[in-house]
Amino acid sequence: MIAILDFGGQYAHLIATRFRSFGVFTQIYDSDISIDKLDSVKGIVLSGGPQSVFSDDSLKIDSKIFKMKIPTLAICFGHQITSHTLGGIVSKGVKGEYGPALLRVEKESLIFKDVSLESKVWMSHFDEVTKIPNNFEIIASTKDCQIAAMQNKDLNIYGIQFHPEVIHTKEGLKILSNFADICEVKNTWDLGSFIDKECLKIREKVKDKKVFLLVSGGVDSSVAFALLEKALGKERVFGVFMDTGLLRKDERKYVESSMKEAGFENLYTEICEDIFLKNLEKKFLPEEKRKIIGNTFLDVQKEIVKRLGLNPEDWLLGQGTIYPDTIESGATKNSHTIKTHHNRVPEIQKMIDEGKVIEPLVDLYKDEVREVGRKLGLSNKLVDRHPFPGPGLGVRILCSNENDLTIIEEGEVNNFKYQILPIKSVGVQGDQRTYKHPAVLYLNNDRLDWDKLDQSSVKIVNESDNVNRVVLSLSSKVLQKFKSKEKYIDKNRIKLLQEVDFIAQKILYDYELKALDVQKVWQFPVVLLPLVNEKNEECVVLRPIWSQEAMTAEFARLPQEILNQMSEKILEIDGIGEVFYDLTHKPPGTIEWE
Ligand code: XMP
Repeated sequence: MIAILDFGGQYAHLIATRFRSFGVFTQIYDSDISIDKLDSVKGIVLSGGPQSVFSDDSLKIDSKIFKMKIPTLAICFGHQITSHTLGGIVSKGVKGEYGPALLRVEKESLIFKDVSLESKVWMSHFDEVTKIPNNFEIIASTKDCQIAAMQNKDLNIYGIQFHPEVIHTKEGLKILSNFADICEVKNTWDLGSFIDKECLKIREKVKDKKVFLLVSGGVDSSVAFALLEKALGKERVFGVFMDTGLLRKDERKYVESSMKEAGFENLYTEICEDIFLKNLEKKFLPEEKRKIIGNTFLDVQKEIVKRLGLNPEDWLLGQGTIYPDTIESGATKNSHTIKTHHNRVPEIQKMIDEGKVIEPLVDLYKDEVREVGRKLGLSNKLVDRHPFPGPGLGVRILCSNENDLTIIEEGEVNNFKYQILPIKSVGVQGDQRTYKHPAVLYLNNDRLDWDKLDQSSVKIVNESDNVNRVVLSLSSKVLQKFKSKEKYIDKNRIKLLQEVDFIAQKILYDYELKALDVQKVWQFPVVLLPLVNEKNEECVVLRPIWSQEAMTAEFARLPQEILNQMSEKILEIDGIGEVFYDLTHKPPGTIEWE
């Protein structure tokens, strides 16, 4: 087995999944585990984390670990703490590196066996190792990080600043597989056995009770529904689909018919938009909105239990929670809260501690959930749906309590003019939550040069303290005068966003139906901003991304004609004056804006 020591990184669990995907059994431990427990492991991975080795309360590591000669792969913060503990120097970086960087392998190493001399890697750090410990050697660099990888062959230690576990590091899986070879671990895990093992666990946990499952019509809750039915039988799983009023246009009808088609009969719809809207009145802070939405789901659930005269003692609450929901909500010992997912509000956390919640997919990522869904016989149409978050349009309609804040700063990068907008969105940088301004870039001619736009976006964020996201204006080439506008969630804004979203999704759908051999968009949020142009018209953002499991993402590079079509059609809607296209990877942005 390979042991992963978790320093609170967003991707610690993802490292485990990657090893599992090529059949290596892994276990995650807190970073302060006693080293006797590591005696028999074949390899150790030190994860990233949100900390800095300089802070007084920084996590420490028992230096004896490094003397055990067990192969050790130290990633990001793990790389920094290894260097710091063994006598190297870690410094505050001159600037952060978030998202893509080009890695150059400089020395032969088992960890880079068959890895190209130059390849794209994904970074998320501010501090960096500036002097290696004695008896180490530098084995790879990037433009902004000279010690991107180091090794000590005698002690079997490999330190890397980038993240091999995220799918956007092009040869990351090869690097992890090389590490598994160095550890000489054999195949001990497969997803097929997951279903049988999980069914046993479900029966053990539920005993003679029943499950009240919150269903959204999306991938996770549908797969959870099918798995619970397999384990307990159809009559013991009661699915409830709540129409929160924050759904996409015509979503209720779609969910009802597609769930029926998939064979889920024990499903009940509750229309509860009024209570969601009432509870969100005048709210504008992202975390507050998220918690209100999560709590309202619970309130409605309790109300249904009461109305139907069910005895709460006979029921467990079922949820299709998957691993990113947990880690982003800050649920592991050293991790930060990036955003509180609707199924991880404190009241649910309390119910989990009391054993009142069942979540059969809680250790899986979206790509694994899809695989389980297919094995359970669900259709591709259902399993391959784009993810849609539980809080729905509630986190895509951004709100503000301030009027007339104007452009914060103007600048130029690679001949593109840009402005920093007077609103904010959530991001993830160096495993921490950020809440900063987006910048808007303007094209200087008619052609979209994706590489140049990508580099410009990365440069603005990496060099700025108050920007975590960059968008491109699809509607103007000259700088506009935007200002913030006091706006909250209300029926008019919901309807407006539903219309914009409907148009954008339809154009994407038609395009992908005909396009061959293109990388399909993984998720496509459309966002309404509390921002207006000089004519007092609203601004929307298109955010199509490419991803595999939502922990990292690249903004999608759609053909220019498709963007033009989307923008033209959306601008025909009364009241919409600007269409932006999100040019931000994750990190530094998150997929959703809040
Ligand atoms: P971010 O925005 O953090 O999102 O990059 C990662 C993935 O999680 C989805 N998401 C949620 N899903 N409840 C959910 O069921 C939530 O509260 C929630 N917040 C974000 C998001 O759509 C993306 O796929």
